[in-house]
Amino acid sequence: MSAHLTIVTHPLVQHKLTIMREKTTSTAKFRQLLREISMLLAYEVTRDLPLAQTTIDTPLCPMQAPKLEGRKLALVSILRAGNGLLDGILELVPAARVGFVGLYRDETTLQPVQYYCKLPAELEERLVIVVDPMLATGNSSAAAVDLVKQSGARNIIFLCLLAAPEGVARMKEAHPDVRVVTAALDERLNEKGYILPGLGDAGDRLYGTR
Ligand code: URA
Repeated sequence: MSAHLTIVTHPLVQHKLTIMREKTTSTAKFRQLLREISMLLAYEVTRDLPLAQTTIDTPLCPMQAPKLEGRKLALVSILRAGNGLLDGILELVPAARVGFVGLYRDETTLQPVQYYCKLPAELEERLVIVVDPMLATGNSSAAAVDLVKQSGARNIIFLCLLAAPEGVARMKEAHPDVRVVTAALDERLNEKGYILPGLGDAGDRLYGTR
């Protein structure tokens, strides 16, 4: 594994991911598992957030204790499946600023088309975590990272559930400074740009559409 790619091998993550991959897993269960996994992945991607010492009073005495420094985190969800990862992370870090990027994939060219972009202010001062469950061709992911960089972001992590080697390579080529964190690196893409063995269409499985 390179510094560019981190695979979170924690047994709880791997177990939950296996259940999500199974085609018989219901929408409700899929959504619940994605929420749970996103909290575990959030633990990994926030481990270097800076802390500042602050004075507090315990019931017994004053003490110096660490707290997260303010204005440190922004989450950017790539619509719509990114919202499945976003919800769980926000439970752990409710004060995070949140942005949304709307990109759909042209099914013929597999190229991303932007239809929405709303990002928080002062991205240059924050760790920006861009979330999308599936890093497939990497075209949408690279385009989303382009947008957050254009808004000033310098410290960016791309967080996904599953990655294809093609997507990891595309991200490394387009954004060598952006670390990719994922629960699994799968085998390859099929001719329609789906990850194999994968879990199907993450948005459809999350929201019960087809
Ligand atoms: N998007 C998905 O939802 N699934 C894939 O396998 C690839 C892209």
